[in-house]
Amino acid sequence: MKKIVVLISGSGSNLEAIIESCDAKKINGKIIHVISNNPDAYGLTRASNYNIASKIINHKKFSSRIDFENSLEDFLDMLNPDLIVLAGFMRVLGPKITTKFSNKMINLHPSLLPKYPGLNTHEKVLENKDPRHGISIHYVSAELDAGPLIAQGLIDINKNETLENMIKRIHKIEHLLLPEIINEICNENIYLDNNEVKYRNINLHNHKLIKKSYEI
Ligand code: GAR
Repeated sequence: MKKIVVLISGSGSNLEAIIESCDAKKINGKIIHVISNNPDAYGLTRASNYNIASKIINHKKFSSRIDFENSLEDFLDMLNPDLIVLAGFMRVLGPKITTKFSNKMINLHPSLLPKYPGLNTHEKVLENKDPRHGISIHYVSAELDAGPLIAQGLIDINKNETLENMIKRIHKIEHLLLPEIINEICNENIYLDNNEVKYRNINLHNHKLIKKSYEI
C-alpha cells in the first residue's frame, strides 16, 4: 500500500476527502502524515479526528525560505512517502525541494491551468465572465502552478452565478477528482517519465490529459 503525505495550510476539506476515500478503500494507499505550515489550520483538527499523525512546520519560524524548505525536505525524507499531495498548501516551493520530489509531488489548483496561476482564481473567472471554471491537478515544478498537468475537472458557470456558490461547486469537484487521481497514481496508472505524464489503462478520450466535466 502506497504511503501518502498530505501538505495543507487551511481548512483541509480536501484532506478529509482523501482520508475518507482511503478509509473506504477507494484509494489504494494510506496517509502516513499530514504537514501544515500554519499552526492554526483546521485541517490539523481533521487529521487528529481520524487519528492521523500531523506536524506543524511553521514557515514564520524560519529566517529564510530555504531554511523552511530544508526542514520540510528533511522531514519528508524521514517519512519516505510514495506520494506527496499539496491539498490547499499555500506556500510556493523552490527549485531544490521541487526537483528532489518532482516525480512524487502533486498539487491541486482551483483553475483551468494555464489560466490563472496564483491566487484569487474564482474572482478572476467571474470578473472575466468566463463560461467555464475548474480545477487542475499537476506534478509540482519550481515554476508556480506550471508543472506537468495530470487532470482537470470542469464546470459551466451558471447565469447569475455567485462567488460563494461557485466556490462550493469547485470544492465538490475537488473532493471527487483529487481522490480518484491519487488512487490512479497509487496504482501506478499515472506517473511522470522524463517530465511527461504517462497514463496506463486510462481512456483519455482524445485529450492530452484527463478531463472530466461535472454537472454539479
Ligand atoms: C482548495 O480549493 C484548493 O484548490 C486551493 O485551496 C483550497 C483548499 O481547500 N489551493 C490553492 O489555491 C493552491 N494554490 P481545503 O483546505 O478545504 O482543502
